[in-house]
Amino acid sequence: MATNRTFTMIKPDAVANGHIGAILNDIIAGGFKIVAMKYIQLTTETAGAFYAVHSARPFYGELVNFMTSGPIVAVILEKENAIEDFRTLIGATNPAEAAEGTIRNKYAKSIDANAVHGSDSDENAQIEGAFFFSQFERF
Ligand code: PPS
Repeated sequence: MATNRTFTMIKPDAVANGHIGAILNDIIAGGFKIVAMKYIQLTTETAGAFYAVHSARPFYGELVNFMTSGPIVAVILEKENAIEDFRTLIGATNPAEAAEGTIRNKYAKSIDANAVHGSDSDENAQIEGAFFFSQFERF
């Protein structure tokens, strides 16, 4: 069932490069409402657990290292057709292939440091949001 919600992280590269405000502006201008948000530092354990689904992939270790390299912003977003519309707004995983004007096109430099995460399904959006936020922190 569609929840009209998605989960995103502004990743350590975008935070370190001062893009939190610009990215949140783009997200809000794209019609999304912020329903939960926090600024946190992931540990190897928490990042490893979040990305456990990718643990067999060759870049898993690099991904976990990168995601623990600095603070991130975790956000739950609401909009009709949230999953698909958010993935359109952020562009392709590899910024070199991301469409002009998308968040990854504007703020990301490489596939391993690609500025933002976006859930790939309603089910994962729910799992990922609940990973970071208790029921009292979600509106
Ligand atoms: S996606 O967006 O989930 O369909 O993309 P996918 O290719 O499955 O990638 C899953 C996450 O792994 C990150 N990724 C990488 N990290 C480091 N090095 C390499 N080469 C690499 N390729 C992909 C990618 O950014 C995805 O992270 P999230 O946070 O899910 O966007």
